[in-house]
Amino acid sequence: MHRFFVVALAVTACDPTAQTGQAGKAGHDAPPKSQPQSATETRAHAPQLDRALLQVRAKLIAGQHGGATQKSVDALISKLPTAGDAFFGGVATAAKLVPAGRHPKAAASAFADASQMCGACHQKHGVSPAVKSPTEPDAPTPAMQMQLHQWAMDRMWEGLVRPSDDDWQRGAEALLRDPLADANHERTPAEQHAGIAHIGELAQAASKASTVPQRTKVYGQLLVTCGACHGR
Ligand code: HEC
Ligand code: HEC
Repeated sequence: MHRFFVVALAVTACDPTAQTGQAGKAGHDAPPKSQPQSATETRAHAPQLDRALLQVRAKLIAGQHGGATQKSVDALISKLPTAGDAFFGGVATAAKLVPAGRHPKAAASAFADASQMCGACHQKHGVSPAVKSPTEPDAPTPAMQMQLHQWAMDRMWEGLVRPSDDDWQRGAEALLRDPLADANHERTPAEQHAGIAHIGELAQAASKASTVPQRTKVYGQLLVTCGACHGR
């Protein structure tokens, strides 16, 4: 599967453009005759959508928002089919709110909303596609706390986009085990205690979130917490 292609790139986790490899599903079943146009478009565009969306997320994780996210959002929107399906319209509407958001919180929540919209369409079509997240499936060792954050955020994102309960739970549980959540941990600088403690609280909420709206909300809250600390 595609994850083999990304193992060596795990440390460049914030650069999803580095991903290549997964074979497309050309030659898949013919689309239903009633709606050939939108089904064809879905197949033609979906393989690039995950990477485009993760480009937007990389900005937010790095603590950038507002105009700094515009280019990545434009790139995402340019990959969306312009006609054919209300879900694509929903993705675009949510994505446009990322750069428009004055506050990073609004941007992060718009990102989460765009992601769950992908998941809603997959669910409607009865598919749970493997999306290309930057990190490999094996959880990083506890010593690599930041990679653990990234790993958890990737799994939860897959949980929203595929959608997949399993992926969501694996991510939430990895965050719960985050040793940095211990404010006394030797690698946790004092000025970062608040941000780290907040991650711990949100990990609790994430592990209990069972509905799409709950997960979307907590994902946005987590994302803004990552960005708030990195963007300082
Ligand atoms: C209009 C409905 C719809 C929307 C919206 C949608 N998808 Fe999909 N997606 C599908 C369907 C249906 C498939 C399965 C296609 C197939 O099996 O050929 C799919 C497949 C995929 C695949 C696997 C493609 C492959 O060939 O391996 C990825 C990755 C993907 N979607 C990502 C996304 C992302 C990211 C978004 C949101 C930005 C998104 N999709 C939005 C319907 C949608
Ligand atoms: C309280 C501050 C803080 C929070 C919250 C935080 N980070 Fe970090 N992050 C850092 C610092 C500082 C670095 C710089 C490298 C280091 O110390 O490991 C970093 C580096 C990284 C790196 C680069 C890899 C590495 O090991 O250097 C990634 C990826 C990352 N963080 C992801 C995340 C994600 C995803 C979240 C949100 C779930 C997050 N971080 C939340 C402080 C934070």
